[in-house]
Amino acid sequence: MTFLFNSDARRGAVFQAAFARDLPGLPFSMDPATVDPDSVRYLITWTVPDDLPRYRNLEVLFSIGAGVDQLRIADVPGHVKVVRMVEDGIIRMMQEYVTLAVLALHRDLPAYLGQQRSADWQALPPRQAHERRVGVLGLGMLGQAALERLKPFGFPLSGWSRTQREVAGVTCFAGADGLRRMLSETDILVCLLPLTEETRGFLDADLFSRLPRGAGLVHVGRGPQLNHENLIAALDGGQLSGAVIDVTDPEPLPPGHAFWSHPRIVLTPHIASVTQPETAARAVIDNIRRLHAGSDPIGLVDRRRGY
Ligand code: NAP
Ligand code: GLV
Repeated sequence: MTFLFNSDARRGAVFQAAFARDLPGLPFSMDPATVDPDSVRYLITWTVPDDLPRYRNLEVLFSIGAGVDQLRIADVPGHVKVVRMVEDGIIRMMQEYVTLAVLALHRDLPAYLGQQRSADWQALPPRQAHERRVGVLGLGMLGQAALERLKPFGFPLSGWSRTQREVAGVTCFAGADGLRRMLSETDILVCLLPLTEETRGFLDADLFSRLPRGAGLVHVGRGPQLNHENLIAALDGGQLSGAVIDVTDPEPLPPGHAFWSHPRIVLTPHIASVTQPETAARAVIDNIRRLHAGSDPIGLVDRRRGY
């Protein structure tokens, strides 16, 4: 029985040390060329390797990230459990990024960066946090964590999910009607939805038109959820006042793409949150112990829902 690590060597070394310490009975390998494919029961990876069928006895496919869309789950044999990454490091980094982005939009940073470039010293009318409503699409591990970190600032907070959730201090919405209501009361919208067939192209002109004029967007879900042309049109027409964009389609963006230079877009290269090997290794080891004890792993993906 082998655990095969298929990702960068730096994080692999941290995983290897943690496995040697905490699960010494489970052989760990970072080299598919030297491992007996029949011994591989667990594989951790970002995308599914082409030679997946070699691992005939694979039981669990761990995603090295929180998202699982890049694994193309439909191509993974039905008996293999797919598990997304649920770990403290990725949560903390997303809390930092969403806080940074919400505060940047709240305090008009895109506009002030533009003013700086044109040597224009001018104060814009400030707005208090209690007058700036923040809505989060997705009330999962990361959406709830981001909302928790935003609480002390005093923004009125809301969140939307597929099933109705209850989160203390957050007005929760679900379903199509709930989405309409939340959008009409949201000044800064944060997208933390997984990419599925239902959420592909979700951030489009129709959705932007339901937000109050001058709203801001933070996009940290997945690139294909955002219609790039619709975003540019919404920003140029004033329906949106600014956007912080961490994920795009494609990644990286081609030279000359409008997002590189748009004055109302702050662009980062898919770095909002990254799996941290120390905490991730602990989470995966805990999950293997759960599996050995006959329990479901934390972060087990529901294949029907796609996340
Ligand atoms: P999660 O725990 O699975 O939560 C997903 C949330 O989205 C749930 O609340 C779910 O609703 C909701 N949802 C899914 N489909 C929906 C739909 N069609 N309509 C309404 N709500 C829907 O996921 P997570 O761990 O929070 O991660 C979210 C995503 O963040 C990942 O999938 C990944 O794409 C992205 N991400 C980005 C970065 C980055 O660096 N930019 C880093 C990590 C992750 P229910 O609660 O009803 O199930
Ligand atoms: C990063 O985007 C992740 O899904 O962890």
